[in-house]
Amino acid sequence: MEGGRGHSARIRSTLRLKRAETGSTLSHLEGGLSGRRYEADALMGLDPIDQRPLLARYDLARARQTIGCEQMATRRSGRLWRWAELLPVRSQAFIIYLGEGETPLQPARHLGSWLGLTNMSVKRESLNPTGSFKARGMAVAVGRAVELGAKHLVAASAGNAGGALAAYSAAAGVRATVIMPADAPAQNQVEVLATGAGLLLLEGLISDCGRLAGVIRDELGAIDLSTLKEPYRVEGKKTMGFELAEQLGWQLPDAIVYPTGGGTGIVGMWKAFEELEALDMIGTRRPRMFSVQAEGCAPIVLAYNAGDRFAKPWDRAATAAAGLRVPSAVGDFLILDCLRKSGGGAVAVPERDIVETQGRLGRLGLGYASLETAAAAAGLKMLMESRVIEPEGRVVLFDTGAGFKSEPPVIAVPRPIPNDVEFWKERVIPGLR
Ligand SMILES: Cc1ncc(COP(=O)(O)O)c(C=O)c1O
Repeated sequence: MEGGRGHSARIRSTLRLKRAETGSTLSHLEGGLSGRRYEADALMGLDPIDQRPLLARYDLARARQTIGCEQMATRRSGRLWRWAELLPVRSQAFIIYLGEGETPLQPARHLGSWLGLTNMSVKRESLNPTGSFKARGMAVAVGRAVELGAKHLVAASAGNAGGALAAYSAAAGVRATVIMPADAPAQNQVEVLATGAGLLLLEGLISDCGRLAGVIRDELGAIDLSTLKEPYRVEGKKTMGFELAEQLGWQLPDAIVYPTGGGTGIVGMWKAFEELEALDMIGTRRPRMFSVQAEGCAPIVLAYNAGDRFAKPWDRAATAAAGLRVPSAVGDFLILDCLRKSGGGAVAVPERDIVETQGRLGRLGLGYASLETAAAAAGLKMLMESRVIEPEGRVVLFDTGAGFKSEPPVIAVPRPIPNDVEFWKERVIPGLR
């Protein structure tokens, strides 16, 4: 804790946030299904009534005194934390800043022409610290948990969330335990250990890891930061929605395509749009939100197509895109509500298309993208082919993670060549002509 405060104090001087005197305007938490309100400081878990996710609600009337389109234009530093009034961390002393947020929204002409889109861009979440959008959620949730006195944090993770939890916990000086399925990418396992967190590898799926996280919470008094098991990670994720609106001149795109596992990206952005509208920063128009899952684990797609409010747990979940290997999402109804209210949808992509698209994205100039990003691009291709999305529409694809964080594809690498000029001239150069 001491280390965390010291670190935050140093960061404070570089953030130069202008915000309401008393910090965040977080006022209460609201039950996603029960609609019950709880004091914001009282809970860091699920709704005690129905064991469903809680969402943070802000005093938006007070927030609008200091936040608006013009004010945001004057806030040049702080990245994600520029939105401090709409984030739950109340005291600046608990802001853990590793450079998260404000990722570029890049036009992608070559990718657009492959997809048949004239106006597409990519939100480069892979450029966040820890190489994925998971940094946003953990930055905010770890800060808030430490502010509420947490001494030990635990989370079930497919990989990237664990890496982010480890990094932000280390920066805050708080203990962290990450539980991953034993087949989580080795890259993520190493990242957690190298950052000094505890790692448990479980013979099971992420939902089983979630059960172990619950036991650690109950037995050891740790705070459980698993997806949507507490209200604050989604608050960090929602900043993607704030940024998108700002980057598009306070307009929203026609469609957003997002690789979906536990669904915090989708749920968070939808919440961001509601808050921006309440603050008169955008109008009532919303993008169509599309979830992409893998054919080997597509509970949200199945529930969407069946018209169900809740998703049935997926049996024998299997996909190389580890972040999408989520057989049952605690916030399933929140994701499905967003997809339906927005007039969007959900598609499942075949496994071979995910790996094939990863290579294609690289060749089209997107760099080495994660398998989850590749799944989203493959899903967008399917949506274009089935004419669900208009070719002239303004479409944003989310690049949620960097390729080096996924299990590497099976690619034949060349044999080493001798360090010999004659050999190069005779055997190498002809092959390059
Ligand atoms: C790179 C990447 N993309 C997408 C996802 C899915 O995100 P969510 O669980 O918020 O739906 C994950 C989850 O681990 C991920 O690591």
